[in-house]
Amino acid sequence: MTADELVFFVNGKKVVEKNADPETTLLVYLRRKLQLSGTKLGCGEGGCGACTVMLSKYDRFQNKIVHFSANACLAPICSLHHVAVTTVEGIGSTKSRLHPVQERISKSHGSQCGFCTPGIVMSMYTLLRNQPEPTIEEIENAFQGNLCRCTGYRAILQGFRTFARDGGCCGGSGDNPNCCMNQKKDSNVTLLPSLFNPEEFMPLDPTQEPIFPPELLRLKDVPRKQLRFEGERVTWIQASTLKELLDLKAQYPEAKLVVGNTEIGIEMKFKNKLFPMIVCPAWIPELNAVEHGPEGISFGASCPLSSVEKTLHEAVDNLPAYKTEVFKGVLEQLRWFAGMQVKSVASIGGNIITASPISDLNPVFMASGAKLTIVSTGTKRMVRMDHTFFPGYRKTLLAPEEILLSIEIPYSREGEYFSAFKQASRREDDIAKVTCGMRVLFQPETAQVKELALCYGGMADRTISALKTTRKQTASFWNKELLQDVCAGLVEELYLSPDAPGGMVEFRRTLTLSFFFKFYLTVLQKLGKGNLENNCAKLDPTDASATSLFQKDPPANVQFFQEVPEGQSEEDMVGRPLPHLAAAMQASGEAMYCDDIPRYENELSLRLVTSTKAHAKITCIDISEAQKVPGFVCFISAEDVPGSNKTGIFNDETVFAKDEVTCVGHIIGAVVTDTPEHAQRAAQGVKITYEELPAIITIEDAIKNNSFHGSELKIGKGDLMKGFSEADNIVSGEVHVGGQEHFYLETHCTIAVPKGEQGEMELFVSTQNTMKTQSFVANMLGVPANRILVRVKRIGGGFGGKETRSTVVSTAVALAAHKTGRPVRCMLDRDEDMLITGGRHPFLAKYKVGFMKDGKVVALKVEHYSNAGNTLDLSQSIMERALFHMDNCYKIPNILGTGRLCKTNLPSNTAFRGFGGPQGMLIAEYWMSEVALTCGLPAEEVRRKNLYKEGDLTHFNQKLEAFTLSRCWDECLASSQYHARRSEIDKFNEENCWKKRGLCIIPTKFGISFSIPFLNQAGALIHVYTDGSVLLAHGGMEMGQGLHTKMIQVASRALKIPISKIYISETSTNTVPNTSPTAASVSSDLNGQAIYEACQTILKRLEPFKKKNPTGTWEEWVSAAYLDAVSLSATGFYKTPNLGYSFETNSGNPFHYFSYGVACSEVEIDCLTGDHKNLRTNIVMDVGSSLNPAIDIGQVEGAFVQGLGLFTLEELHYSPEGSLHTRGPSTYKIPAFGSIPIEFRVSLLRDCPNKKAIYASKGVGEPPLFLAASIFFAIKDAIRAARTKNADCKMEKLFRLDSPATPEKIRNACVDRFTTLCVTGVPENCKPWSVRV
Ligand SMILES: Cc1cc2nc3c(=O)[nH]c(=O)nc-3n(C[C@H](O)[C@H](O)[C@H](O)COP(=O)(O)OP(=O)(O)OC[C@H]3O[C@@H](n4cnc5c(N)ncnc54)[C@H](O)[C@@H]3O)c2cc1C
Ligand code: FES
Ligand code: FES
Repeated sequence: MTADELVFFVNGKKVVEKNADPETTLLVYLRRKLQLSGTKLGCGEGGCGACTVMLSKYDRFQNKIVHFSANACLAPICSLHHVAVTTVEGIGSTKSRLHPVQERISKSHGSQCGFCTPGIVMSMYTLLRNQPEPTIEEIENAFQGNLCRCTGYRAILQGFRTFARDGGCCGGSGDNPNCCMNQKKDSNVTLLPSLFNPEEFMPLDPTQEPIFPPELLRLKDVPRKQLRFEGERVTWIQASTLKELLDLKAQYPEAKLVVGNTEIGIEMKFKNKLFPMIVCPAWIPELNAVEHGPEGISFGASCPLSSVEKTLHEAVDNLPAYKTEVFKGVLEQLRWFAGMQVKSVASIGGNIITASPISDLNPVFMASGAKLTIVSTGTKRMVRMDHTFFPGYRKTLLAPEEILLSIEIPYSREGEYFSAFKQASRREDDIAKVTCGMRVLFQPETAQVKELALCYGGMADRTISALKTTRKQTASFWNKELLQDVCAGLVEELYLSPDAPGGMVEFRRTLTLSFFFKFYLTVLQKLGKGNLENNCAKLDPTDASATSLFQKDPPANVQFFQEVPEGQSEEDMVGRPLPHLAAAMQASGEAMYCDDIPRYENELSLRLVTSTKAHAKITCIDISEAQKVPGFVCFISAEDVPGSNKTGIFNDETVFAKDEVTCVGHIIGAVVTDTPEHAQRAAQGVKITYEELPAIITIEDAIKNNSFHGSELKIGKGDLMKGFSEADNIVSGEVHVGGQEHFYLETHCTIAVPKGEQGEMELFVSTQNTMKTQSFVANMLGVPANRILVRVKRIGGGFGGKETRSTVVSTAVALAAHKTGRPVRCMLDRDEDMLITGGRHPFLAKYKVGFMKDGKVVALKVEHYSNAGNTLDLSQSIMERALFHMDNCYKIPNILGTGRLCKTNLPSNTAFRGFGGPQGMLIAEYWMSEVALTCGLPAEEVRRKNLYKEGDLTHFNQKLEAFTLSRCWDECLASSQYHARRSEIDKFNEENCWKKRGLCIIPTKFGISFSIPFLNQAGALIHVYTDGSVLLAHGGMEMGQGLHTKMIQVASRALKIPISKIYISETSTNTVPNTSPTAASVSSDLNGQAIYEACQTILKRLEPFKKKNPTGTWEEWVSAAYLDAVSLSATGFYKTPNLGYSFETNSGNPFHYFSYGVACSEVEIDCLTGDHKNLRTNIVMDVGSSLNPAIDIGQVEGAFVQGLGLFTLEELHYSPEGSLHTRGPSTYKIPAFGSIPIEFRVSLLRDCPNKKAIYASKGVGEPPLFLAASIFFAIKDAIRAARTKNADCKMEKLFRLDSPATPEKIRNACVDRFTTLCVTGVPENCKPWSVRV
């Protein structure tokens, strides 16, 4: 049978594809076939939004053109017949005109590394196409499916609020309670209205948008015919009528129906499944019908969830409230269900038939008794969704030839109440830990139960109904006995064994009760309104807090910074909030990242083959299956390495594992093929046989087995024995700080191009470390470093993850290029990246602190253990930094810190923003909060009492000079109105039983410098061309932190020329050699100073020509110098003076200076679910005299939000065998738009020039990250309030809360009658689903 032509439009241009392959996604097609690289690949699973595009089509069912956002990574091209695709390139460009959305995100500083930016632009653009004047809430909702790892989101939202009808500045009119003008009174710093000027923005003119292709519009009435597309392995049939569909299903019962592909797409890409026959029913009228019937609203199974949501909203608005109880339940689930991109394409039928045990909709449908119509050729049956509908894991009652035609969601009746609840790790776009639908029907006019249905997801391998428990309640009254009875019933009926998949056993069990309790109270509240008397309990007002659903409050953000001094020349950009110089190109998709480099004609693709065992001998590698994959070229392994197979910072790693693997993810080899898709298949075909060896996974395992890298590190001062003996009180304990995945939006990527001469090779790499990339490749190939050229234009985020670990990819790719003599490319998929490249070190600390009655700390001992993984990498320096920061900001006369690096069979952990500092400081604040509690004193008073003062010596004997921390502290205390808030919170907590608020103020002091002295050097190279333009190169990489922008500002001031004359093209090993990694917050300091030196050389050479022609221009002086044969090229070099610390003598300075900051945060927790809301954060940060306040505030906010992820959200789960479960955005949750504090106020401290760095600035990349600990301790404060209130259970004052403070940990710590019912013993031999590493 011949295949049909696929016809669709991209940015107004018609695309006719004669060989459409059903396995090809729109993203691959755009990037590879159409060379439109603006749309990015961040995850490939619909979880990050980097690939967002707008799809437009004529909707025959609604009779209109519809626009919606979609994830190009999940959309098969075959689903796009007669669809118009708009990508970021299609809406504007720096070459013609930016679209207002692109302009506003770039000018409002909403783009840092820019990798997420095109996706965010397209989400906003789609919203505006549908709603040119959206509300703030609509804007926030539009981003539920987009992630950004750099900005902290505030800047993006603030820029886009200028489109909102309720979001512009009210000018202090008093209409807006969160008005920025209101802050004037509680701050003594100069108020600037904004870091950008909205008046500069182009207006949005909806009439200027590209029109829907007229050719497609003309086709709207043409009857559709069946289409068939044939790919290499898969056939796609687009059925146009129900009959066709049923016939096809009869003919191919195993065929998969694909509508949104949000489930099947994932199974094919990540679960290695192949579905040779796909039938798409999306065009069939019956499957798209929406009918309002006498008993409910019926939706065709292919209806997208977004249209279900819209229809139900309309029904809720128009029907009597009693009829829409179920609809409200569905809407509550849809509110937290994926992002718009998924909801716009995912179908209601797809959700039901996938039969996921954690489906959010199925428990609601089951509890409501929704009616399903199931058809096949010649048969039609109706079933109510009940406990029999899902007979097993991912199974339904449907026979293979049957399809789901529609679902009727019933109206609720008088006396019927319905609620739906879901608890996930993150509120938006996350899969549920437990999700449920609950319904009760009362006998008319009474509180006597007629029917009760409690259906749960996340509690078994399918959606289940707690039948045993609910049946018993028929005829019971809605009162405390019923509550107790149901809880006791649920505890038994919904039991989970301690090794249940998904883990979190006690939490999940507790949630089943918590949800019911919420339902119980909600119903009580509703019954109360009906004034029912008989046998019905009354709602205690303090319980009411359990019933309210999560509400979003309007955001309020303010940024304070110091303006440049009066009289500073207009052209001098230092100190001004200049937008990131590449922001506009990032917003238009023109900015090039490594994988955007067009493919070379003879290019090959590489895919790594990695270990599935944590520790094992390799007994056999069989590549025979891989060789059968089309396009297979070769398999490379240790045998192919011409130079040294040893690599790594300490030469303790292998390029490819030989004989033995030491972690899951250890690179064993790589396949090289013609395309990335073939490479993936070939890699799956490589079969490795192992002989397993004992593995060490956790810190505790390592301690037990004495498995460490190197020897113990130690810093001590004073007399510990004496200190403890003098102390009034001693507290000791343990705390664990979890690791963190970098989740840079751009995964590791390398392109290696062999040059054919003398071993020359050019590498384009997404790395923070050109030098190590060069030297590791040279060492592996056995060639001198001068043959290896490494080039980096920009990288899509690094955060330390690309400081050394990028070399594991680039070295393998270089070998493939060497062996094949052809260019080779590899961009890791997100799951590989997370598996292989390590992250922040988990820490375990054992502390003992001695203190006086007044809270003054006199002695401290902390033993630190980090989980370093299988190799040393940077672990030692990271532990050193943890030890240097174990005091945080407190003077402790007698102190001892030790550190051990646990050698485990996990992938080597590595640098991550803060580099051990945050772990060390969290531990410090942990014991500090216990000191305050034990003394019964306010925590902020005890912290203040222990703070260092100007001139004090730290525990490593470095003198604190220009110590601005006390100023930051006082300003933050005042601007956060700490004391007033404390009393408000106490009152709130008194009045609310199930919601509690907490508050905490936390300082930070962060040492600036690489702790290895020689790394504190940098070089720069300046070429001045005869037209006066300047090409600048320095050793730092642009990774979103705005380094190039700042460096151009520095050069511009130094040379006294406008920034428009200066350009940075890239960072490369042939312009500036031997560069230190772009890390440790020192890149502006080091490279800025090197640039300054180079500029001075140029200026000195120009001096005679300036003297000769004092009124001349820059161009004239440059030209004169050239004509006089004076060199216009200069290098600059800088090394930080007076560094060098000795652990032996505890003397010498490890740091050049310190950055300081203070944050105060307020949170609200839901004691029943463990959910929390970040209500407000105030930050005061000393960044010296800011080189660029917009960039610095961006760094403060971005780091803070990353810290918020570290301390409250992000949790890596490993199996007891050392295999990472959390390998993508669906399971690993970084902060999203909705995670940031509702009120987020950032002040840069005024008048604090730093005489130790370029133009009096300070390093800012890492220091603010730790300030997010204020949220962690505010949560702890709120939990304490919950525990204190709980009279039923006797609570210790001090309690353990490990980081991150996830909903599970919060809920479990809020001990109450529900948690005590769900205590689950863990038998000795039980292998839990996940272990804490
Ligand atoms: C990023 C992301 C976030 C998500 N978040 C959530 C969430 O919060 N909650 C949640 O519950 N789910 C979530 N999901 C899961 C998914 O979106 C839903 O299950 C979705 O509704 C599936 O619909 P689809 O049209 O995309 O299914 P497809 O992938 O197209 O198909 C799924 C399955 O349904 C079958 N099928 C489809 N239609 C019919 C029919 N008419 N008759 C018989 N079989 C049929 C197919 O054969 C296939 O087996 C998420 C998915 C992603 C990618
Ligand atoms: S790449 Fe498509 S959502 Fe992440
Ligand atoms: S700017 Fe958003 S991920 Fe970097």
